[in-house]
Amino acid sequence: MAQTESTVHVRPYNPDMDYDVVVRVFRETIGDNLHFEPAHTLSTYAWCRPYLLLSPSTCFVLSSSSSDGTSCSPGEPVGFILGTPSTMTFAQRWRISFLASVDRMVCPEPAIPDGDERGWDLNWDDDPVGTLQRVIWGPERYPAHLHIDILPAYQRKGCGGQLMTVFLQKVKEEGASGCHIIMPASNIDARRFYGRHGFRMYEKSMNDGGSGEPGILKDGSVCLVREL
Ligand SMILES: CC(C)(COP(=O)(O)OP(=O)(O)OC[C@H]1O[C@@H](n2cnc3c(N)ncnc32)[C@H](O)[C@@H]1OP(=O)(O)O)[C@@H](O)C(=O)NCCC(=O)NCCS
Repeated sequence: MAQTESTVHVRPYNPDMDYDVVVRVFRETIGDNLHFEPAHTLSTYAWCRPYLLLSPSTCFVLSSSSSDGTSCSPGEPVGFILGTPSTMTFAQRWRISFLASVDRMVCPEPAIPDGDERGWDLNWDDDPVGTLQRVIWGPERYPAHLHIDILPAYQRKGCGGQLMTVFLQKVKEEGASGCHIIMPASNIDARRFYGRHGFRMYEKSMNDGGSGEPGILKDGSVCLVREL
């Protein structure tokens, strides 16, 4: 696995050891706008737990060493990249086996407007909780190929690039011909990061996304793509 010159290295996710810590790192690094309940817990069901449970072989962690001067235990994940080589296959598995594990008290199944869930609105500003519930119950609409998050103490050291390189190589080996990310347009630093790693705005207008503008969804998210 890739080594950084300093105190961390990239290694495969280990389901027996890493699950709880990765969920904790996810909760710490998810955008501040979702740091309230039940949105905080729902976000782990939307963007973290399904990848760990359904596609562990394409999840990698940034592992701390014993001498990095932080409070993390040696070997503990301080960042991650989670993803899948096939979004549609992943979404099917999400429906078949992941939804059964979702706590219905926190995430009741939303009513489907006119029997067609493409009518579900994603509205992060006014209804973040309802939007997360709709994302969780409509996995075909939203899952990205990847999610990447690193604890602040380990950001801006080149670690994200190492996670990205290992992940892209793995999903390519598993048959992916490209990779996409759906992310908030407002996360300028992350967009620059993805740009440096070969991602560009999707050129087509996504009708189901509803904005009518290339690469932009109705909820203001942007879709970035990269060939492999
Ligand atoms: C986005 C993210 C994954 C990027 O990972 P990272 O390891 O911080 O990325 P890098 O270190 O490769 O690059 C970040 C910046 O650090 C700079 N950098 C890299 N190595 C450096 C070093 N040794 N010394 C100083 N700066 C360095 C890069 O040039 C880059 O600068 P820029 O943003 O001004 O262009 C990470 O910052 C993160 O987890 N952010 C919070 C969660 C998030 O936004 N996730 C994405 C959701 S869509």
